[in-house]
Amino acid sequence: MAYKIAIIVGSLRKDSINRKVARSICALRGDNLDCSMIEIGELPLYNQDLDSNPPQQWVRFREQIKTADGVLFCSPEYNRGIPGVLKNAIDIGSRPYGQSVFDKKPAAIVTASPGSIGGFGANHQVRQACVFLNMPVMQQPEAYLGHVGDDSFDESGCLKEGPLKEIIQGLAHAFHDWVEMIHRSRQLLAEDSAHRAQETAAAKEHA
Ligand code: FNR
Repeated sequence: MAYKIAIIVGSLRKDSINRKVARSICALRGDNLDCSMIEIGELPLYNQDLDSNPPQQWVRFREQIKTADGVLFCSPEYNRGIPGVLKNAIDIGSRPYGQSVFDKKPAAIVTASPGSIGGFGANHQVRQACVFLNMPVMQQPEAYLGHVGDDSFDESGCLKEGPLKEIIQGLAHAFHDWVEMIHRSRQLLAEDSAHRAQETAAAKEHA
C-alpha cells in the first residue's frame, strides 16, 4: 500500500543536499511512498498571540501535515542543532495546545552534512521534539549521513551509485515498513476492540 508522506526539509537552500536526499528516498521507494514536499520557508514566525486568528500559511501547513500518513524530516545541522526554520515549522504544527497535527504520526529523521558527524546533534534535537509530540519515530536505521556533498549526486540531482545510495535505499524501505507497521497495528487494535465490544453486547443480551 502507498502511504502519503509529508516531507519537511530543514534547509531553504536551492541546491540543498538534504532536499536531494529527501527526493532520493521518494524515488527509491517508488510507488509505495506517495511523497509531498511541504514548503516551510514562507511560514510566519510562530507567535502564540496569533493562535486565535492564524495566518493562512499556518493553516495550509497544518492541513498538509494532517492529511499525511507519516512525516519524514530531512535536515541539515546548524551549529549542532535544528535550523530555526525547521523548529518554527514544528512549533506551528504543534499548536494550538491539544490540536497538534503531528500527534501519533509515524516519522523518520534524516540528517545529511558534508561534515563527518552527519548532523547527529540536529537529528537528536528533532527526535527530542518528536517524543513530546507523541510521534513514533523509526529507531533504526539511524540516519546521520556524513560526507555528503554536491558530488554525491549527478547533474539531475540523483544519487550516484555507491554506499550512500545503498544506505538511502535501506532507509526508504525501512521507513515504508515502519509506517505500515504503525498503521496496521492501529487498525488491528481498533478491529480487536470493536470485536470485544460486540461480544460484550451479545453476552449482555443473552444474560
Ligand atoms: C552549517 N553547517 C554545519 N554542518 C554540520 O555538520 N554541523 C553544524 O553544526 C553546522 N553548522 C552550520 C551552521 C550554518 C548557519 C550553516 C549555513 C551551515 C554546514 C552544513 O552542513 C552545510 O552547509 C550543508 O550543506 C547544509 O545543508 P543543505 O542546505 O545543503 O541541505
